[in-house]
Amino acid sequence: MKSFDVLAQFQATGVETCFHDRHVSPQILAGLDGSNWGLADYEARGGYQALRKILGKDGGAGMTQEEVIAAVKESALRGRGGAGFPTGLKWSFMPRQSGSDKYLVCNSDEGEPGTCKDRDIMQFNPHIVIEGMAIAAYAMGIPVGYNYIHGEIFKTYERFEEALEQARAAGLLGDNILGSGFSFQLHAAHGFGAYICGEETALLESLEGKKGQPRFKPPFPASFGLYGKPTTINNTETFAAVPWIIRHGGQAYLEVGKPNNGGTKIFSVSGDVELPGNYEVPMGTPFPKLLELAGGVRKGRSLKAVIPGGSSAPVLPAGVMMDCTMDYDSISKAGSMLGSGAVIVMDDTRCMVASLMRLSYFYMHESCGQCTPCREGTGWLYKMLTRIEHGQGRDSDLEILDEVAANIMGRTICALGDAAAMPVRSFIKHFRHEFEHHVATGRCMVGGGVAVSRLAAAKVGDKA
Ligand SMILES: Cc1cc2nc3c(=O)[nH]c(=O)nc-3n(C[C@H](O)[C@H](O)[C@H](O)COP(=O)(O)O)c2cc1C
Ligand code: SF4
Repeated sequence: MKSFDVLAQFQATGVETCFHDRHVSPQILAGLDGSNWGLADYEARGGYQALRKILGKDGGAGMTQEEVIAAVKESALRGRGGAGFPTGLKWSFMPRQSGSDKYLVCNSDEGEPGTCKDRDIMQFNPHIVIEGMAIAAYAMGIPVGYNYIHGEIFKTYERFEEALEQARAAGLLGDNILGSGFSFQLHAAHGFGAYICGEETALLESLEGKKGQPRFKPPFPASFGLYGKPTTINNTETFAAVPWIIRHGGQAYLEVGKPNNGGTKIFSVSGDVELPGNYEVPMGTPFPKLLELAGGVRKGRSLKAVIPGGSSAPVLPAGVMMDCTMDYDSISKAGSMLGSGAVIVMDDTRCMVASLMRLSYFYMHESCGQCTPCREGTGWLYKMLTRIEHGQGRDSDLEILDEVAANIMGRTICALGDAAAMPVRSFIKHFRHEFEHHVATGRCMVGGGVAVSRLAAAKVGDKA
């Protein structure tokens, strides 16, 4: 399928890509029409100028490794994969001398429910990721990199491979890039669709050809990463921000956003909005503005709740969310997380018990099974929620749910355990009355108290 066919397909279904005109300027990913992803078009938009700049191939003096890292630190770019860790600081952990084995990895696994931004970046502007990775490799003296791409977006993987070939043919990747003496070999690798392979150490295991299960930490990848060598891992969108930072300066990027939250961010807005899609806006944009860009809550409905950072982030009630700005600090102050920037909008027709049950199914399904609290606990959460949703809840269930969630949190090898527990605790905290109503009446209070039982009682009984 040609790229513009993909764009047309999204538009026809009402699911927009990043590349429509409803954004707040400045946009790092501006000027994309679905067909102009290739090298010539990317260069016409100023692509690879940042790489030329650091290598002194633009007539300037070039930049040292320290200068590149200083610019990224100054920009206040924070990792777009979920945790929001400062990128420049992460880069400074890598020993910079060349000659030793070390690796750069791009995390394009993107399996968080609600998130669909990295897919669009790679599909419609793959060279921006390649350039960002080449700059990172230069800054940390890394000779080899991999982009680990989610297994279920094979066309995007093929697109990225094609872009890699173009870059190699133009001397922008490989040995002695642009005659500068700097060499960087970059490869694409595709996963098989497991959510857990987005966790950085599970990703490394998978990249090594093993079962994708998270490693104990410490040691962290900065000292013991791919094949046991120092490794820096960043998200696709994180790398995509780097060329702009180098071209315009760290201060300029910082000023686009707000202190401690530099630049723009792509928010994948989904759920009960008129125009679901990816929206690039400056950090600090008020949530109501983002909602307005997405066409507002679907017709005739009012906003009930929002999960602001992907399914792992605690849910926030409408009133709290409408006072937030879209940045790490504001969302964290409100009691949730900006995460990967997947904004799941729920209107007043949504049953919070049913929504949480569905989320819990996901975490039970995706638990890799290494840790007992996660392996067993995610199943217990789902079974109890299923019971409540289907009108067979018990008075003690809410307390037990909270206790199970509390006993998962902080007791597992990786953060999937926390990600499974946090939605449960936040849904019950903010919408307790709906859970209590389900337990007390066996009916749902949303939609006029319709009966909730959709499964045969015997079937639910088997699960519980
Ligand atoms: C269960 C789980 C899934 C994750 N999935 C992703 C993912 O799909 N993409 C991603 O970039 N980071 C994901 N992360 C975060 C990564 O472990 C890591 O923090 C991130 O790739 C670092 O890049 P950044 O600093 O640029 O954000 C996940 C973490 C956990 C615990
Ligand atoms: S928390 Fe869950 S997903 Fe993470 S390592 Fe433990 S069992 Fe696996």
